[in-house]
Amino acid sequence: MRREHWGSQLGFILAVAGSAIGLANIWRFPYVTGSHGGAAFILIYLICLIFIGIPAFIAEITIGRKAQQNPSGAFLLLGRSNAWGWVGKCTVLTGFIVSAFYSAVAGWILGYFVEAVGGSLIHFETHAQANAHYQTLIETPWWGISFHALFLFVCVLILYLGVKSGIERFNKILMPLLFAILIILVLKGFAMPNSIQSLSFLLKPDWSMITPAAFLVALGQSFFTLSIGQGTLVTYGSYLSKKENIITSTLIITLMDTSVSLFSSLAVFTIVFAVGIAPDQGPSLIFNTFPLVFSQIAGGYFLSVMFFALVLVAAITSEISALEPAIAYLCDAWKWKRHQAVIACGFASFLLGVPCALSLSVLKDVHLLGDRNVLETFMFLCSNILIPIGGFAAVVLLGWRYGIKDSFEEINYGTHDHFIKNSFLQTYLKVCFRYVSPLLIVVVFLQAIGIFG
Ligand code: PHE
Repeated sequence: MRREHWGSQLGFILAVAGSAIGLANIWRFPYVTGSHGGAAFILIYLICLIFIGIPAFIAEITIGRKAQQNPSGAFLLLGRSNAWGWVGKCTVLTGFIVSAFYSAVAGWILGYFVEAVGGSLIHFETHAQANAHYQTLIETPWWGISFHALFLFVCVLILYLGVKSGIERFNKILMPLLFAILIILVLKGFAMPNSIQSLSFLLKPDWSMITPAAFLVALGQSFFTLSIGQGTLVTYGSYLSKKENIITSTLIITLMDTSVSLFSSLAVFTIVFAVGIAPDQGPSLIFNTFPLVFSQIAGGYFLSVMFFALVLVAAITSEISALEPAIAYLCDAWKWKRHQAVIACGFASFLLGVPCALSLSVLKDVHLLGDRNVLETFMFLCSNILIPIGGFAAVVLLGWRYGIKDSFEEINYGTHDHFIKNSFLQTYLKVCFRYVSPLLIVVVFLQAIGIFG
Protein backbone atom coordinates (compact mmCIF):
# COMPACT_ATOMS: atom_id res chain seq x y z
CA MET A 1 0.00 0.00 0.00
CA ARG A 2 1.24 3.52 -0.80
CA ARG A 3 2.32 5.45 2.27
CA GLU A 4 0.02 8.28 3.21
CA HIS A 5 1.57 11.76 3.20
CA TRP A 6 0.72 15.08 4.79
CA GLY A 7 -1.43 17.25 2.57
CA SER A 8 0.77 20.33 2.93
CA GLN A 9 3.77 21.77 4.76
CA LEU A 10 1.36 23.67 7.00
CA GLY A 11 -0.39 20.41 7.85
CA PHE A 12 2.93 18.84 8.79
CA ILE A 13 4.01 21.86 10.84
CA LEU A 14 0.74 21.99 12.78
CA ALA A 15 0.78 18.23 13.38
CA VAL A 16 4.31 18.26 14.76
CA ALA A 17 3.63 21.46 16.72
CA GLY A 18 0.53 19.71 18.06
CA SER A 19 2.71 16.85 19.22
CA ALA A 20 5.30 19.14 20.74
CA ILE A 21 2.96 21.54 22.50
CA GLY A 22 1.48 19.63 25.40
CA LEU A 23 1.35 19.26 29.14
CA ALA A 24 5.08 19.93 29.34
CA ASN A 25 4.62 23.46 27.99
CA ILE A 26 1.57 24.56 29.90
CA TRP A 27 1.90 22.65 33.12
CA ARG A 28 5.56 21.94 33.69
CA PHE A 29 7.52 24.76 32.05
CA PRO A 30 6.06 27.60 34.15
CA TYR A 31 6.85 25.84 37.38
CA VAL A 32 10.35 24.60 36.57
CA THR A 33 11.27 28.03 35.27
CA GLY A 34 9.97 29.72 38.38
CA SER A 35 11.77 27.32 40.67
CA HIS A 36 15.08 27.07 38.80
CA GLY A 37 16.19 30.65 38.52
CA GLY A 38 13.70 32.34 36.15
CA ALA A 39 15.47 33.98 33.23
CA ALA A 40 18.65 32.10 34.10
CA PHE A 41 16.82 28.83 33.54
CA ILE A 42 15.32 30.10 30.29
CA LEU A 43 18.87 30.78 29.13
CA ILE A 44 20.13 27.26 29.83
CA TYR A 45 16.96 25.89 28.34
CA LEU A 46 17.73 27.77 25.11
CA ILE A 47 21.31 26.43 25.16
CA CYS A 48 19.97 22.87 25.47
CA LEU A 49 17.57 23.59 22.64
CA ILE A 50 20.27 24.88 20.28
CA PHE A 51 22.94 22.27 20.93
CA ILE A 52 20.85 19.18 21.63
CA GLY A 53 17.11 19.65 21.10
CA ILE A 54 17.11 21.15 17.60
CA PRO A 55 19.81 18.82 16.15
CA ALA A 56 18.06 15.74 17.58
CA PHE A 57 14.74 17.02 16.25
CA ILE A 58 16.19 17.50 12.74
CA ALA A 59 17.91 14.11 12.94
CA GLU A 60 14.69 12.25 13.76
CA ILE A 61 12.61 13.90 11.06
CA THR A 62 15.38 13.28 8.54
CA ILE A 63 15.59 9.59 9.48
CA GLY A 64 11.82 9.26 9.04
CA ARG A 65 11.64 11.05 5.73
CA LYS A 66 14.59 9.18 4.26
CA ALA A 67 13.26 5.76 5.27
CA GLN A 68 9.52 6.42 4.75
CA GLN A 69 8.93 3.85 7.46
CA ASN A 70 8.05 3.45 11.13
CA PRO A 71 10.98 3.97 13.57
CA SER A 72 11.90 0.29 13.76
CA GLY A 73 12.16 -0.08 9.98
CA ALA A 74 13.78 3.34 9.64
CA PHE A 75 16.58 2.68 12.16
CA LEU A 76 17.14 -0.75 10.58
CA LEU A 77 17.35 0.69 7.07
CA LEU A 78 19.71 3.55 7.85
CA GLY A 79 21.69 1.66 10.50
CA ARG A 80 22.00 -1.46 8.31
CA SER A 81 22.02 -3.88 11.27
CA ASN A 82 19.51 -5.59 13.49
CA ALA A 83 20.90 -3.86 16.54
CA TRP A 84 19.84 -0.50 15.08
CA GLY A 85 16.44 -1.99 14.29
CA TRP A 86 16.07 -2.86 17.97
CA VAL A 87 16.96 0.67 18.96
CA GLY A 88 14.15 1.84 16.67
CA LYS A 89 11.76 -0.64 18.31
CA CYS A 90 12.79 0.72 21.69
CA THR A 91 11.73 4.25 20.63
CA VAL A 92 8.35 2.88 19.52
CA LEU A 93 7.97 1.29 22.93
CA THR A 94 8.93 4.55 24.63
CA GLY A 95 6.23 6.45 22.73
CA PHE A 96 3.75 3.77 23.66
CA ILE A 97 4.60 3.95 27.38
CA VAL A 98 4.33 7.75 27.18
CA SER A 99 0.89 7.38 25.58
CA ALA A 100 -0.28 5.27 28.53
CA PHE A 101 0.73 7.56 31.40
CA TYR A 102 0.03 10.72 29.40
CA SER A 103 -3.54 9.58 28.84
CA ALA A 104 -4.02 8.79 32.53
CA VAL A 105 -2.95 12.34 33.43
CA ALA A 106 -4.93 13.85 30.54
CA GLY A 107 -7.94 11.91 31.85
CA TRP A 108 -7.71 13.92 35.07
CA ILE A 109 -7.58 17.09 32.97
CA LEU A 110 -10.66 15.98 31.07
CA GLY A 111 -12.36 15.27 34.39
CA TYR A 112 -11.47 18.76 35.59
CA PHE A 113 -12.69 20.27 32.34
CA VAL A 114 -16.08 18.64 33.00
CA GLU A 115 -15.96 20.02 36.57
CA ALA A 116 -15.16 23.47 35.19
CA VAL A 117 -18.05 23.38 32.72
CA GLY A 118 -20.36 22.25 35.52
CA GLY A 119 -19.25 25.30 37.52
CA SER A 120 -17.80 23.39 40.44
CA LEU A 121 -14.34 24.97 40.40
CA ILE A 122 -15.32 28.45 41.50
CA HIS A 123 -16.64 28.04 45.02
CA PHE A 124 -13.49 27.58 47.07
CA GLU A 125 -12.49 29.91 49.86
CA THR A 126 -9.37 28.17 51.06
CA HIS A 127 -6.64 25.98 49.70
CA ALA A 128 -7.88 23.22 52.01
CA GLN A 129 -11.30 23.27 50.33
CA ALA A 130 -9.84 23.08 46.84
CA ASN A 131 -7.58 20.29 47.99
CA ALA A 132 -10.43 18.36 49.60
CA HIS A 133 -12.33 18.53 46.30
CA TYR A 134 -9.27 17.30 44.44
CA GLN A 135 -8.68 14.45 46.92
CA THR A 136 -12.29 13.30 46.63
CA LEU A 137 -12.05 13.09 42.86
CA ILE A 138 -8.57 11.64 42.60
CA GLU A 139 -9.26 8.98 45.22
CA THR A 140 -12.34 7.74 43.37
CA PRO A 141 -10.89 4.98 41.19
CA TRP A 142 -13.69 5.03 38.63
CA TRP A 143 -13.37 8.75 38.11
CA GLY A 144 -9.75 8.40 36.95
CA ILE A 145 -10.35 5.27 34.90
CA SER A 146 -13.46 6.53 33.11
CA PHE A 147 -11.87 9.78 32.05
CA HIS A 148 -8.68 7.99 31.02
CA ALA A 149 -10.87 5.75 28.81
CA LEU A 150 -12.90 8.65 27.45
CA PHE A 151 -9.81 10.68 26.62
CA LEU A 152 -8.23 7.74 24.80
CA PHE A 153 -11.48 7.11 22.97
CA VAL A 154 -11.41 10.63 21.52
CA CYS A 155 -7.78 10.18 20.43
CA VAL A 156 -8.50 6.78 18.89
CA LEU A 157 -11.35 8.29 16.86
CA ILE A 158 -9.00 10.89 15.40
CA LEU A 159 -6.30 8.32 14.67
CA TYR A 160 -8.85 5.97 13.11
CA LEU A 161 -9.55 8.51 10.37
CA GLY A 162 -5.96 8.31 9.13
CA VAL A 163 -2.94 10.57 8.81
CA LYS A 164 -4.42 13.23 6.56
CA SER A 165 -8.11 13.08 7.38
CA GLY A 166 -7.52 12.39 11.07
CA ILE A 167 -4.25 13.69 12.50
CA GLU A 168 -3.69 16.53 10.04
CA ARG A 169 -7.29 17.70 9.85
CA PHE A 170 -7.78 17.79 13.61
CA ASN A 171 -4.47 19.53 14.26
CA LYS A 172 -5.50 22.19 11.75
CA ILE A 173 -8.61 22.82 13.85
CA LEU A 174 -7.24 22.27 17.35
CA MET A 175 -3.94 24.19 17.11
CA PRO A 176 -5.50 27.54 16.07
CA LEU A 177 -8.04 26.96 18.86
CA LEU A 178 -5.19 26.42 21.31
CA PHE A 179 -3.45 29.63 20.24
CA ALA A 180 -6.68 31.61 20.48
CA ILE A 181 -7.37 30.38 24.03
CA LEU A 182 -3.79 31.05 25.07
CA ILE A 183 -3.93 34.63 23.76
CA ILE A 184 -7.18 35.25 25.66
CA LEU A 185 -5.60 33.90 28.86
CA VAL A 186 -2.44 35.99 28.46
CA LEU A 187 -4.50 39.15 27.87
CA LYS A 188 -6.66 38.33 30.88
CA GLY A 189 -3.50 37.76 32.90
CA PHE A 190 -2.06 41.13 31.99
CA ALA A 191 -5.30 42.84 32.93
CA MET A 192 -4.95 41.43 36.47
CA PRO A 193 -3.67 43.53 39.37
CA ASN A 194 0.10 43.31 40.01
CA SER A 195 0.65 41.64 36.65
CA ILE A 196 3.90 43.42 35.91
CA GLN A 197 5.38 42.78 39.36
CA SER A 198 4.42 39.13 39.21
CA LEU A 199 6.53 38.73 36.11
CA SER A 200 9.63 39.36 38.16
CA PHE A 201 9.14 35.92 39.68
CA LEU A 202 9.41 34.49 36.22
CA LEU A 203 12.00 36.74 34.66
CA LYS A 204 14.35 37.72 37.47
CA PRO A 205 17.54 35.80 36.70
CA ASP A 206 18.99 33.96 39.65
CA TRP A 207 22.39 32.83 38.45
CA SER A 208 23.09 30.82 41.61
CA MET A 209 20.47 28.34 40.39
CA ILE A 210 22.53 27.36 37.33
CA THR A 211 23.67 23.98 38.60
CA PRO A 212 24.20 20.62 36.88
CA ALA A 213 20.79 19.64 38.23
CA ALA A 214 19.20 22.62 36.46
CA PHE A 215 20.89 21.57 33.21
CA LEU A 216 19.42 18.14 33.66
CA VAL A 217 15.95 19.58 34.12
CA ALA A 218 16.41 21.85 31.08
CA LEU A 219 17.58 18.98 28.89
CA GLY A 220 14.78 16.69 30.02
CA GLN A 221 12.30 19.47 29.39
CA SER A 222 13.62 20.19 25.89
CA PHE A 223 13.49 16.51 24.89
CA PHE A 224 10.07 15.83 26.31
CA THR A 225 8.49 18.99 24.98
CA LEU A 226 9.89 18.50 21.47
CA SER A 227 8.71 14.87 21.48
CA ILE A 228 12.27 13.63 20.90
CA GLY A 229 13.34 10.02 21.51
CA GLN A 230 9.84 8.59 21.39
CA GLY A 231 9.45 7.53 17.78
CA THR A 232 7.00 10.36 17.12
CA LEU A 233 9.21 12.60 14.99
CA VAL A 234 10.58 9.70 12.95
CA THR A 235 7.03 8.55 12.27
CA TYR A 236 5.67 12.02 11.44
CA GLY A 237 8.79 12.56 9.28
CA SER A 238 7.99 9.36 7.40
CA TYR A 239 4.76 10.97 6.16
CA LEU A 240 6.70 13.94 4.82
CA SER A 241 7.50 14.33 1.13
CA LYS A 242 10.82 15.44 -0.36
CA LYS A 243 9.26 18.74 -1.39
CA GLU A 244 9.09 20.01 2.17
CA ASN A 245 11.83 21.94 3.91
CA ILE A 246 12.97 20.23 7.12
CA ILE A 247 15.09 23.15 8.32
CA THR A 248 12.47 25.90 8.11
CA SER A 249 9.79 23.56 9.48
CA THR A 250 12.03 22.81 12.46
CA LEU A 251 12.64 26.50 13.11
CA ILE A 252 8.95 27.34 12.97
CA ILE A 253 7.95 24.41 15.18
CA THR A 254 10.59 25.03 17.86
CA LEU A 255 9.70 28.71 17.87
CA MET A 256 6.02 27.88 18.32
CA ASP A 257 6.78 25.39 21.06
CA THR A 258 9.06 27.76 22.97
CA SER A 259 6.62 30.67 22.62
CA VAL A 260 3.78 28.58 23.99
CA SER A 261 5.95 27.65 26.99
CA LEU A 262 6.80 31.29 27.61
CA PHE A 263 3.28 32.60 27.08
CA SER A 264 1.82 29.87 29.27
CA SER A 265 4.21 30.94 32.00
CA LEU A 266 3.06 34.54 31.60
CA ALA A 267 -0.57 33.49 31.88
CA VAL A 268 0.03 31.17 34.83
CA PHE A 269 2.04 33.65 36.89
CA THR A 270 -0.01 36.77 36.22
CA ILE A 271 -3.21 34.91 37.08
CA VAL A 272 -1.87 33.10 40.16
CA PHE A 273 -0.09 36.11 41.64
CA ALA A 274 -3.10 38.34 41.11
CA VAL A 275 -4.66 36.76 44.17
CA GLY A 276 -1.38 36.55 46.04
CA ILE A 277 -1.04 32.78 46.05
CA ALA A 278 2.33 31.13 45.64
CA PRO A 279 2.45 28.85 42.60
CA ASP A 280 2.74 25.23 43.63
CA GLN A 281 4.33 22.45 41.69
CA GLY A 282 3.02 19.29 40.04
CA PRO A 283 -0.64 18.33 40.25
CA SER A 284 -1.42 20.87 42.95
CA LEU A 285 -0.67 23.82 40.64
CA ILE A 286 -3.38 22.81 38.23
CA PHE A 287 -5.83 21.04 40.49
CA ASN A 288 -5.64 23.08 43.72
CA THR A 289 -4.11 26.46 43.10
CA PHE A 290 -5.99 27.25 39.91
CA PRO A 291 -9.47 26.39 41.20
CA LEU A 292 -8.76 28.54 44.26
CA VAL A 293 -7.71 31.40 42.00
CA PHE A 294 -10.74 30.97 39.74
CA SER A 295 -12.95 31.15 42.82
CA GLN A 296 -11.53 34.52 43.77
CA ILE A 297 -11.48 36.51 40.55
CA ALA A 298 -14.13 38.07 38.41
CA GLY A 299 -14.88 35.94 35.37
CA GLY A 300 -13.55 32.87 37.16
CA TYR A 301 -16.04 30.55 35.48
CA PHE A 302 -15.04 31.62 32.00
CA LEU A 303 -11.35 31.41 32.89
CA SER A 304 -11.66 27.96 34.42
CA VAL A 305 -13.38 26.57 31.33
CA MET A 306 -10.87 28.25 29.02
CA PHE A 307 -7.88 27.07 31.00
CA PHE A 308 -8.86 23.40 31.14
CA ALA A 309 -9.92 23.53 27.47
CA LEU A 310 -6.43 24.80 26.64
CA VAL A 311 -4.68 22.00 28.50
CA LEU A 312 -7.07 19.41 27.10
CA VAL A 313 -6.54 20.44 23.48
CA ALA A 314 -2.78 20.45 23.98
CA ALA A 315 -2.97 16.96 25.48
CA ILE A 316 -5.11 15.47 22.69
CA THR A 317 -2.76 16.51 19.89
CA SER A 318 0.23 15.17 21.85
CA GLU A 319 -1.42 11.89 22.79
CA ILE A 320 -2.26 10.99 19.20
CA SER A 321 1.38 11.56 18.28
CA ALA A 322 2.57 9.25 21.07
CA LEU A 323 0.34 6.43 19.79
CA GLU A 324 1.12 6.87 16.08
CA PRO A 325 4.60 5.22 16.11
CA ALA A 326 3.17 1.93 17.44
CA ILE A 327 0.32 2.13 14.91
CA ALA A 328 2.77 2.77 12.06
CA TYR A 329 4.91 -0.13 13.28
CA LEU A 330 1.99 -2.59 13.26
CA CYS A 331 0.93 -1.40 9.79
CA ASP A 332 4.45 -1.48 8.26
CA ALA A 333 6.02 -4.47 9.96
CA TRP A 334 3.08 -6.72 10.73
CA LYS A 335 0.96 -5.56 7.78
CA TRP A 336 -2.04 -4.83 9.97
CA LYS A 337 -4.84 -2.68 8.63
CA ARG A 338 -4.75 0.82 10.08
CA HIS A 339 -8.08 0.57 11.89
CA GLN A 340 -7.04 -2.72 13.52
CA ALA A 341 -3.74 -1.22 14.65
CA VAL A 342 -5.45 1.91 16.01
CA ILE A 343 -7.92 -0.08 18.08
CA ALA A 344 -5.29 -2.51 19.37
CA CYS A 345 -2.90 0.28 20.36
CA GLY A 346 -5.66 2.33 21.96
CA PHE A 347 -6.81 -0.62 23.99
CA ALA A 348 -3.30 -1.66 25.05
CA SER A 349 -2.49 1.93 26.00
CA PHE A 350 -5.65 2.01 28.09
CA LEU A 351 -4.64 -1.15 29.96
CA LEU A 352 -1.10 0.07 30.61
CA GLY A 353 -2.46 3.44 31.72
CA VAL A 354 -4.86 1.98 34.28
CA PRO A 355 -2.22 1.54 37.03
CA CYS A 356 -1.15 5.16 36.38
CA ALA A 357 -4.74 6.38 36.61
CA LEU A 358 -4.97 4.55 39.94
CA SER A 359 -1.59 5.71 41.21
CA LEU A 360 -3.10 8.29 43.55
CA SER A 361 -6.03 6.15 44.71
CA VAL A 362 -6.05 2.35 45.02
CA LEU A 363 -2.36 2.06 44.23
CA LYS A 364 -1.20 5.04 46.22
CA ASP A 365 0.83 2.89 48.59
CA VAL A 366 2.66 1.06 45.81
CA HIS A 367 6.15 2.45 45.50
CA LEU A 368 8.71 1.36 42.93
CA LEU A 369 12.21 2.51 41.96
CA GLY A 370 12.96 4.45 45.10
CA ASP A 371 10.01 6.25 46.53
CA ARG A 372 8.07 6.75 43.30
CA ASN A 373 4.42 5.88 42.80
CA VAL A 374 3.43 4.00 39.64
CA LEU A 375 2.90 7.15 37.56
CA GLU A 376 6.19 8.68 38.71
CA THR A 377 7.98 5.41 37.94
CA PHE A 378 6.70 5.43 34.35
CA MET A 379 7.69 9.07 33.96
CA PHE A 380 11.12 8.48 35.45
CA LEU A 381 11.80 5.51 33.17
CA CYS A 382 10.80 7.47 30.09
CA SER A 383 12.27 10.89 30.80
CA ASN A 384 15.50 9.85 32.47
CA ILE A 385 16.36 6.66 30.61
CA LEU A 386 14.43 5.78 27.45
CA ILE A 387 14.02 9.26 25.94
CA PRO A 388 17.73 10.24 26.28
CA ILE A 389 18.68 6.88 24.71
CA GLY A 390 16.32 7.52 21.78
CA GLY A 391 17.60 11.05 21.18
CA PHE A 392 21.21 9.92 21.48
CA ALA A 393 20.63 7.09 18.99
CA ALA A 394 19.14 9.44 16.39
CA VAL A 395 22.07 11.88 16.32
CA VAL A 396 24.65 9.08 16.43
CA LEU A 397 22.87 7.22 13.62
CA LEU A 398 23.13 10.22 11.31
CA GLY A 399 26.48 11.50 12.56
CA TRP A 400 28.39 8.23 12.54
CA ARG A 401 26.52 5.33 11.01
CA TYR A 402 24.45 6.57 8.09
CA GLY A 403 26.98 9.31 7.48
CA ILE A 404 27.01 13.09 7.31
CA LYS A 405 27.16 13.26 3.51
CA ASP A 406 24.08 11.14 2.90
CA SER A 407 22.23 12.77 5.78
CA PHE A 408 22.90 16.23 4.39
CA GLU A 409 21.71 15.15 0.96
CA GLU A 410 18.39 14.14 2.55
CA ILE A 411 18.11 17.34 4.58
CA ASN A 412 18.82 19.38 1.46
CA TYR A 413 15.69 18.17 -0.39
CA GLY A 414 13.04 20.84 -0.29
CA THR A 415 15.47 23.63 0.63
CA HIS A 416 16.13 24.64 -3.01
CA ASP A 417 19.80 23.89 -2.32
CA HIS A 418 19.94 26.62 0.33
CA PHE A 419 21.12 24.03 2.83
CA ILE A 420 23.96 22.74 0.65
CA LYS A 421 25.12 26.33 0.05
CA ASN A 422 25.02 27.28 3.73
CA SER A 423 28.32 26.19 5.23
CA PHE A 424 27.54 27.64 8.65
CA LEU A 425 24.41 25.54 9.01
CA GLN A 426 26.23 22.46 7.81
CA THR A 427 29.10 22.92 10.24
CA TYR A 428 26.66 23.49 13.09
CA LEU A 429 24.72 20.32 12.32
CA LYS A 430 27.80 18.24 11.66
CA VAL A 431 29.48 19.24 14.92
CA CYS A 432 26.23 18.72 16.83
CA PHE A 433 25.36 15.34 15.29
CA ARG A 434 28.85 13.95 15.75
CA TYR A 435 30.19 15.49 18.94
CA VAL A 436 28.30 18.09 20.90
CA SER A 437 24.83 16.54 21.15
CA PRO A 438 25.89 12.93 21.88
CA LEU A 439 28.50 14.03 24.40
CA LEU A 440 26.17 16.34 26.26
CA ILE A 441 23.41 13.73 26.30
CA VAL A 442 25.80 11.13 27.76
CA VAL A 443 27.00 13.49 30.47
CA VAL A 444 23.50 14.52 31.42
CA PHE A 445 22.28 10.90 31.25
CA LEU A 446 25.02 9.67 33.59
CA GLN A 447 24.17 12.50 35.92
CA ALA A 448 20.48 11.59 35.77
CA ILE A 449 20.98 7.97 36.72
CA GLY A 450 23.23 9.06 39.54
CA ILE A 451 26.65 7.92 38.26
CA PHE A 452 28.25 11.16 39.43
CA GLY A 453 26.73 10.68 42.88
N1 PHE B 1 5.62 16.94 23.69
C1 PHE B 1 4.59 16.56 24.59
C2 PHE B 1 4.45 17.60 25.69
O1 PHE B 1 5.13 18.58 25.70
C3 PHE B 1 4.85 15.22 25.20
C4 PHE B 1 4.88 14.13 24.19
C5 PHE B 1 6.03 13.63 23.72
C6 PHE B 1 3.73 13.62 23.71
C7 PHE B 1 6.05 12.65 22.74
C8 PHE B 1 3.76 12.67 22.75
C9 PHE B 1 4.91 12.16 22.27
O2 PHE B 1 3.66 17.47 26.58
